[in-house]
Amino acid sequence: MKVGVFIPIGNNGWLLSQNAPQYKPSFELNKTITLKAEHYGLDFALSMIKLRGFGGKTEFWDHNLESFTLMSGLAAVTTKIKLFATAASLVMPPAIVARMASTIDSISNGRFGLNLVTGWQRPEYSQMGMWPGDEFFATRYQYLSEYIQVLRDLWGQGRSDFKGEYFKMDDCRLSPQPQAPMKVICAGQSDAGMAFSAQYADYNFCFGKGVNTPKAFAPAAQKLIEATARTGRHVTTYVLIMVIAAETDEAAFAKWEHYKAGADTEAIAWMAQQGAADTRSGGDTNVRQMTDATSPSAVNINMGTLVGSWANVARMLDEMAEVPGTEGVLLTFDDFVQGVEDFGEHIQPLMKSRVDVDTPVPTQVGAPEALAA
Ligand SMILES: Cc1cc2nc3c(=O)[nH]c(=O)nc-3n(C[C@H](O)[C@H](O)[C@H](O)COP(=O)(O)O)c2cc1C
Repeated sequence: MKVGVFIPIGNNGWLLSQNAPQYKPSFELNKTITLKAEHYGLDFALSMIKLRGFGGKTEFWDHNLESFTLMSGLAAVTTKIKLFATAASLVMPPAIVARMASTIDSISNGRFGLNLVTGWQRPEYSQMGMWPGDEFFATRYQYLSEYIQVLRDLWGQGRSDFKGEYFKMDDCRLSPQPQAPMKVICAGQSDAGMAFSAQYADYNFCFGKGVNTPKAFAPAAQKLIEATARTGRHVTTYVLIMVIAAETDEAAFAKWEHYKAGADTEAIAWMAQQGAADTRSGGDTNVRQMTDATSPSAVNINMGTLVGSWANVARMLDEMAEVPGTEGVLLTFDDFVQGVEDFGEHIQPLMKSRVDVDTPVPTQVGAPEALAA
């Protein structure tokens, strides 16, 4: 199974709690985490784009770096790990995104790919006068379908004459083209989002569900299998999940209870209200999963959580790998620096689904020149 880390480009990672570690995002923090992930043989690092936070006492996600520029810096200091940036397709024209991707492909020597999002949260875009109106909730994957066709034209042939409803290219050019095939992630969960992934993406990311119910995401993986049966394309599921681990179950659960006790109810209420604004997307979506402010897991945006000893977390990750159509997981941690280290030292070595991972190079973590040797 592949393993990636969802690096904390926003403050406090994915815990809306006054009792969780409080920190601002910085290049240095994300560099430390990504180099550690690379050291332990993790396959990829992904950063999201978030343009408006949730407020509350913890100022949740009011502080966020920009995804491409962050990954560009990380590309220059890493050597093996794959890197994915998220494109806010509403406000970044495809011809510019294609060129930024080519640039980071050059910096990373072919280790770069894209997460394409339509945007689900109106204030991120209305604050800059770029929200097309709420009818966009219904049409956003038609928009993204045109968007990716322009990207694929430019990356594949170096030119696009695509003519659609949203984009009209006129002998648009791109050079240099990426040296490696540009892989595209989408995290579509609605009916239209899944259909998009099955038609155009390489990987579909979904939310894990519940606490210590590692296979509860299986219906989303099954939905993708059915959607790809219709398109005949190979697209795999990756699952977003938070790991809260310690040497013993008791110590791990003590941390989880502590985070829940400090829940930032104001930020959670805002998240729930924002998530409910989309009434036009068909099917179950993880944004709807986020709207449940009363769930005990609202404190980590209801993303699905594995809490326990290193051995139990390893066992549950192996169970996730057994779900048909699942190729990987995307991990978040309560404390990312310690979490990636504990994963590398204590969890990964126990995972049957990770037996083929290279043993870490015995060098000082955080020294890029040593890692390159
Ligand atoms: C792993 C993961 C990463 C995501 N990253 C972003 C992001 O960076 N920006 C964003 O606006 N939405 C992000 N989303 C939300 C998705 O793009 C998508 O809108 C959401 O999963 C709901 O599916 P739907 O769009 O089909 O309704 C992410 C979702 C997941 C599971």
